Amino acid sequence: MKKVVLAYSGGLDTSCAIKWLKDKGYDVIAFIANVGQQEDFKEIEKRALKTGASKVYVTDLQKEFVDDYVFPSIRAGAIYENKYLLATALSRPLIAKHQVLVARKENAKTLAHGCTGKGNDQVRFEITAQILDPTLEQIAPLRIWEFKTRDEEIDYAKKHNIPVNVTKKSPYSIDVNVYGRSIEAGVLEDPWAEPPEEIYLLTTSPEKAPDKPTYIEIEFLEGRPVKIDGKAYDSVSLIHKLNEIGGKNGVGRVDAIENRLVGIKSREIYENPAGTILYTSHQELESLVLDRETLHYKQAVGQKYAELTYYGLWETPLKKQLDAFVNQTQERVTGTTRLKLYKGNCVPVGRKSKFSRYKEELATYGKKDKFDQKLAEGFIKLWGMPF
Ligand code: ARG
Repeated sequence: MKKVVLAYSGGLDTSCAIKWLKDKGYDVIAFIANVGQQEDFKEIEKRALKTGASKVYVTDLQKEFVDDYVFPSIRAGAIYENKYLLATALSRPLIAKHQVLVARKENAKTLAHGCTGKGNDQVRFEITAQILDPTLEQIAPLRIWEFKTRDEEIDYAKKHNIPVNVTKKSPYSIDVNVYGRSIEAGVLEDPWAEPPEEIYLLTTSPEKAPDKPTYIEIEFLEGRPVKIDGKAYDSVSLIHKLNEIGGKNGVGRVDAIENRLVGIKSREIYENPAGTILYTSHQELESLVLDRETLHYKQAVGQKYAELTYYGLWETPLKKQLDAFVNQTQERVTGTTRLKLYKGNCVPVGRKSKFSRYKEELATYGKKDKFDQKLAEGFIKLWGMPF
């Protein structure tokens, strides 16, 4: 029997996929990636075996996710279409990489996933695996199987005694990891409809957030966030802590119409309190320590970095080369940003660094001024000369 390694979530789609792949003659190995989705992994493992998987791998990828995917994206200033901090997109190349590792271990030649044929995630999973091991084949059951609707899938599951949790039937499609949540479908498909409050889990609504602001200080060491209010955290706990503080203050809600890789526009809601705080505080610190030309150039790099991530091109030469550039710029991004969180807002109110390029004696309009204003006359003449 041919072995297939299926990226398994425990949901309806991938559960039906186990049975469907088995019926197509495959020996199904379920790979469960723990990226912080807070599920009962023992329970999901049992479900996979009961549904027909011959073997199950559960791998905790949270630390690798935050250290090697989330933090680099913050350092790069990557934000897709000025709104999306890429929580879902960043997790895909990591999951695919470990899926490939399981395939190697099991000597499997085929991979499978539970993505539909209209999304970005199918591209991210398959391209990553294709780059890492071009000999592997891919199957995407949802693109080719006979079920047209969710109800047909549920019927199939019932008929074959596939244990799925369809009681908590939600009209939304939700992706969760330690870094954030993505919510789509249902009433959100109407771009004019305001998202109902019930879809949010990580954030309090700004209306119900505390009437007093919360101040926090984020300390960075060479572009990596290391402390909150003077206290050191490991990378995963740091994200948890910021999600909690930000979430309480209604920080990190995003409502976006975005351009998908497959050519359509879609409407997605994001909750990313930690990402919003980190992105804002990191940018703010960079504004203090980077010279103007580097800073401006880096904005373009950040945009490209976001596109590569969104497009599934994480494992490409350009992405590595951009990392090299970004890492070089982060040598001086050490210092602290002070933020005020208040009813959905996340506003920098202070920044300091031993590498600050801000010179008070040059900026001041007071007595200490050392700026020689007479020099400006010649500068302006030469600056304008070419025109
Ligand atoms: N639009 C986001 C992306 O392409 C999230 C995709 C998954 N969203 C979801 N609700 N299942 O990265």
